Amino acid sequence: MLEKRTLGKTNIKVSPIGIGVMMWMGGKGIIGRIAPNVSDEIKNNIIKESFDGGINFFDTAEMYGFGRSEANLAKSLKANSIEDKDVVIGTKWAPMFRRARNMRRTINKRLQYLDDYTIDLYMIHQPISFSTIKTEMNELARLVESEKVKSVGISNYNAKKMRKAHEELEKLRIPLAANQVNYSLVRRNIETNGILDTAKELGVTITAYTPLAGGLLTGKLHNNPEMMKNKFAMYRMVAKRNMEESTPLVETLTEIGKTHEVLPGQVALNWLVTYHGNTVITIPGATKAYQAKESAGAMAFNLSKTESEEIAEVSEIFL
Ligand SMILES: NC(=O)c1ccc[n+]([C@@H]2O[C@H](COP(=O)([O-])OP(=O)(O)OC[C@H]3O[C@@H](n4cnc5c(N)ncnc54)[C@H](OP(=O)(O)O)[C@@H]3O)[C@@H](O)[C@H]2O)c1
Repeated sequence: MLEKRTLGKTNIKVSPIGIGVMMWMGGKGIIGRIAPNVSDEIKNNIIKESFDGGINFFDTAEMYGFGRSEANLAKSLKANSIEDKDVVIGTKWAPMFRRARNMRRTINKRLQYLDDYTIDLYMIHQPISFSTIKTEMNELARLVESEKVKSVGISNYNAKKMRKAHEELEKLRIPLAANQVNYSLVRRNIETNGILDTAKELGVTITAYTPLAGGLLTGKLHNNPEMMKNKFAMYRMVAKRNMEESTPLVETLTEIGKTHEVLPGQVALNWLVTYHGNTVITIPGATKAYQAKESAGAMAFNLSKTESEEIAEVSEIFL
């Protein structure tokens, strides 16, 4: 079983695999209209399977249905009688067309949607906004100091911007806990563009989003290409582009999985959170309970060094 690890240089302990609840938007917002409808019963079962399997970390955002995903997460945690102290929640402020001061005006709304579960990690969703990184980091620090959030992070920041964010927070003696970025075996560019190296150097956790490439790395689309038409448009694009090229990779994941009696997607998740030591954690999405169970199960075995290197080699084309 992979142990819990520290989020950046904070004292917050997270399971290396969490669950992302972006798809729990309940039909609201721009994406909500095309995201799948996940019933309350399924959401509750997803949380149960996650928690029973050792997952304590859940990722959401203001953008995911303008509070819907946050509220649905809180509702399902409550339905499972999961206490605030036993869970780590990350959510994100949407910076587009806004200034940093908007954070102090909207933070109570975030807490309301989360039904007073603590915001353990508050992130800036992406780097485009009307404010500078410095102003945004000062505003995040203010939220920590006023105990509205426990720790702070960023998302989709390149290496240079991450360094700047870290530098501004360091002046205020607040660690930059995490940078959440797109990272999977079919998208390995953070290993070459400086993001991963900078995170290691600064002690910032990398939270890999879209770690299964929307399900592609489970092999289900390779086995049933017709499933593609039910996929969310964003995934369809990623999956289609990578389908052929990722066939040898999925075959390798499947073969290695057989040795450990696990599935290819579980091997992919395990690789992601172990290949670079403790730097990377991940938050696969789940719209069905079995998916959360499998994601949690991805923490229950150890890949050998040879297996990890073989996976790295066969996915080199995605570097
Ligand atoms: N910061 C950002 O800008 C950003 C951007 C994107 C995502 N995120 C975060 O990252 C989280 C995950 O990313 P993601 O949903 O884009 O990608 P993902 O985790 O790669 O894909 C999730 C999808 O994969 C399929 N899946 C998951 N487990 C499976 C299993 N065991 N077997 C078969 N299929 C399985 C499901 O597809 P079906 O629903 O079709 O069954 C699920 O919806 C999001 O929830 C969100 O919290 C952050």
